[in-house]
Amino acid sequence: MRRRDFLAGMTAAAGLAAVAGPATAGAATVRSGAAQTTARAAASYPPADSLRALAAHVNLRIGMAVSPFDIATTTPDYNGVLKSQFSTATPENAMKWDAVEPEQGVFDFTDADEIVNFAEQNGMLVRGHTLLWHNQIPAWVTTGVSNGTISASQLKEFAFQRIQTEVSRYRGRIWQWDVANEFFTDTDPSMINPQDFWIQNLGEGIIAEAYRLVHQVDPHALLFYNDYNIAGEDGTNAKHDAAFAFVQGLLEQGVPIDGVGNQGHQDTQYGFSGTFQQDLAHFASLGLKVAITEADVRTFVNANQIPTDSLAPSAQSYYYTQMLYAALEVPQVISFTFWDESDNPNVSWVPGTFPGEGAATLWDANLNPKPQYFAVQQMLNLAAHAAPHHVATAPF
Ligand code: G3I
Repeated sequence: MRRRDFLAGMTAAAGLAAVAGPATAGAATVRSGAAQTTARAAASYPPADSLRALAAHVNLRIGMAVSPFDIATTTPDYNGVLKSQFSTATPENAMKWDAVEPEQGVFDFTDADEIVNFAEQNGMLVRGHTLLWHNQIPAWVTTGVSNGTISASQLKEFAFQRIQTEVSRYRGRIWQWDVANEFFTDTDPSMINPQDFWIQNLGEGIIAEAYRLVHQVDPHALLFYNDYNIAGEDGTNAKHDAAFAFVQGLLEQGVPIDGVGNQGHQDTQYGFSGTFQQDLAHFASLGLKVAITEADVRTFVNANQIPTDSLAPSAQSYYYTQMLYAALEVPQVISFTFWDESDNPNVSWVPGTFPGEGAATLWDANLNPKPQYFAVQQMLNLAAHAAPHHVATAPF
């Protein structure tokens, strides 16, 4: 059944999802506008009130960025939260070039293997991340390119050898590959970034070649283009329009691309995109699948990762539930992935990247669920269990 059928009862309550106060965490009791629902963790696994179980009712997979720390840590129980709440895993860093080939020709898939094995042992699909990106390129490559000891043809040879090696290692085990990541500029979002490492050194054609290579090596994987602010977050929709034209062009060239990922990194200091849902649907109109790939909502915090504004948690819940509502409304959205399990500055990427900001995730620095978690859980609860509405049926 399409997701829209479940959404009828949600519209009226949707706005409430964002402002529901923190429910009691113990019994996973959530207070919704419509009714108080005490969802006891079912004997079955994963718990019936988990994000993954609720989302499964509406054909949506809920994911998390995963690091070896998350798998190794059971006090507090990062490992337990990971396998009970999420049905997809994205290696946060373990599959990037600097992680898998730290020295030329010396491959190290230890962390990536651990994450893929953990995912498979816990019924989670894997989002491979990421093969062609200007960040986290091994130093032996960037140094060689900048001092001229690595020519353009060698750069392509090394990059494609790594892609061939990594993609064939996980052939048949990767649901979605983020083949290309973040090729548009922030300064002028209406175009491919001419200063991008790959564009500067090999030209824009390298992107299409990478997709063709990945599809040849693993025809099972869904191949995605992944970027941030391509659902109107830039305020002008220019980056969306550019990304749309870009993937449309790849499709017209017959390039094997199956989906677009909008990362979903939000900040309460900026407004929420008024075109978020329509932009997701616009990508879907190309016949593509869509994913929210790195959702988090940062805000200004003190040294203990506590928001400095008392309204922030409500605003953050609003941004999260607006992204989720849009994802639920667009049936071609097949997964919704959160980025980092907790606000702990050693776990979340935000404090180290945006000094003075943080509290971006669904769990606090001690891995306690926050109001944002319950707002997301409530919306999925409504999507999963909202009463069927009358559907127009042919008179008989
Ligand atoms: O592995 C080294 C370690 O050996 C060293 O001791 C340590 C100290 O500098 O650094 C470690 O590398 C860090 C790496 O994460 C692994 O933990 C890098 O410094 C750090 O910059 C890197 O940050 C990651 C960031 O991408 C890099 O651009 C974040 O964890 C990761 O969440 C973030 O994720 C990206 C997505 O891949 C693409 N979309 C944007 C998103 C946020 O930037």
